[in-house]
Amino acid sequence: MSSSSERLPIAILVSGAGTNLQAILDTIHRHELAATVRLVISNNPTAPALARARAAGVASLVLAKPTGAALVAALQDAGVSLVCLAGYMNILPPEAVQAFPHRIMNIHPALLPAFPGLHAVRQTLAHGVRMTGCTIHFVDTGIDTGPIILQEAVPIAANETEASLTEKLHRVEHRLYPQAIQLFADGKLQIVGRKVLIHDRSLW
Ligand code: GRF
Repeated sequence: MSSSSERLPIAILVSGAGTNLQAILDTIHRHELAATVRLVISNNPTAPALARARAAGVASLVLAKPTGAALVAALQDAGVSLVCLAGYMNILPPEAVQAFPHRIMNIHPALLPAFPGLHAVRQTLAHGVRMTGCTIHFVDTGIDTGPIILQEAVPIAANETEASLTEKLHRVEHRLYPQAIQLFADGKLQIVGRKVLIHDRSLW
């Protein structure tokens, strides 16, 4: 792996359990992702994700209802090049989206544009689809509408529950999010209109 000067400085925004945060930290620790987590921001002071940040020695900040200006200031002070939303249950102020154009990613537990917004896994099961998956996308000012970077399908079993499907999706998410961040770090993602071109021969 590369030296620390070549690692992509990132911030991760969380609200809850933080299993995706943990997966990113673990992937960095295994030297499989050339990034460094400079800052974790939570809108929820009791998020277990904050304990994960502390345990990894990563700086964290609670901003319960941040204004766009406060969020942008915190991210700019941390000197990050990429912002990763990982279970962040707040809508990002447009000011923050504009301050980091095509430099904010989100992970969503459905195959967008299907089932955007809250409770995606519940929506998926209620609709009776046979196949779902997860999506990593760039964030724009809409809700789960930005250009799609990576998707992976997950089949739904006949006896699937919200808990079992969430677990299956998490397993995929924990592998896919670090992969998307590495593609960004390597400069392999190019946005053309609403599409993301991936300059990697094994992907499209
Ligand atoms: C993930 O399923 C993600 O897709 C969604 O929120 C969940 C966060 O889980 N946006 P965790 O906090 O990373 O465990």
